[in-house]
Amino acid sequence: MKDVFAAIDRLPKAELHMHIEGSIEPEMMLDLGRRNGIALPWRGVEEARAAYRFGNLKEFLDVFYRGLSVIVTEDDFFAVTDAYLRRAHADGIVHAELFISPQAHLGRGIGFDTMMRGVLRAFESARGGFGMSLKLIPLFQRHLPEEGAFPILDMAEPWRHEIAGFGLAGAELGNPPQHFERLFAHCRDLGYPVVAHAGEEGPAAYVRDSLDLLKVKRIDHGVRAADDPGLVDRLVREAIPLTVCPMANVRLGVFSSFAEHNLKALFERGVKVTVNSDDPSYFGAYLGDILKLCVGELGMGFADIVQLLRNSFEAAFLPERENEDFVERLHQAANASAD
Ligand code: ADE
Ligand code: ZN
Repeated sequence: MKDVFAAIDRLPKAELHMHIEGSIEPEMMLDLGRRNGIALPWRGVEEARAAYRFGNLKEFLDVFYRGLSVIVTEDDFFAVTDAYLRRAHADGIVHAELFISPQAHLGRGIGFDTMMRGVLRAFESARGGFGMSLKLIPLFQRHLPEEGAFPILDMAEPWRHEIAGFGLAGAELGNPPQHFERLFAHCRDLGYPVVAHAGEEGPAAYVRDSLDLLKVKRIDHGVRAADDPGLVDRLVREAIPLTVCPMANVRLGVFSSFAEHNLKALFERGVKVTVNSDDPSYFGAYLGDILKLCVGELGMGFADIVQLLRNSFEAAFLPERENEDFVERLHQAANASAD
């Protein structure tokens, strides 16, 4: 197992489902809170970590919104993004498409430009320092009305070249894909690929409706699709990538343990599964740790891990040639480990 873990460490990786706000570690959260005069309910790091116990998605989102309230200035956005990118680089991540939730910041009076300038300064630093390939995916919050989201597309226009696409997140149950058909049609008309969280807590029907009504290119999570065998057949047939986040699912009670997660079953059924960290500081694991849990808890082999990573590179919103170059790099690293 030790050799496999070391070999996994050496593989180039892609991450397609990671919320920048969900990567703020408690140390930084408390520090920014103090500096910006934002009161938090936790007196110290231990107390904050102890509060990261969630019965469901709603309980998590309450903490997630509380935590992100400390991010105020351009430098704060830089610091949070930069800290994640340093860890990502140490984990072997060479390409990332990172989520950010502009409405969670605009609603607190933070400027879209403040957010973008801080995040993109960290991107520039990681591109220059680590050679990382980076894109941003702004997400709409599904508990908010569709109308309020349209101006975000105008705000994003000056940064179009940094944006891989748009997506949908937030409290899933009761906020179905059909509420966002016009918005997503507008994103597509502007030339953006779209993604949506679906089938995390919500039913398989939300996965199908995200495909049919929102015309998403990838499904974020999607694990509840397994409740509908016909839908799973379709995911396989149409090679729809799922950005699965097993630690999130375990920590939010979708599966009672990692060993019971269905990602291996979906993978073996031929679904294009990718593995991601979602909100690593809240769920206690970054991508490298999670891939090792796939080995240790699910019994996946090194070749399976290589295939999961290949799926991520193939599912990335990059020009075809760049996807192929990353897959080539992956196979060279995998073969070097086998020697
Ligand atoms: N926002 C941040 N993490 C999320 C998740 N796991 N599901 C839905 N919205 C989110
Ligand atoms: Zn997510």
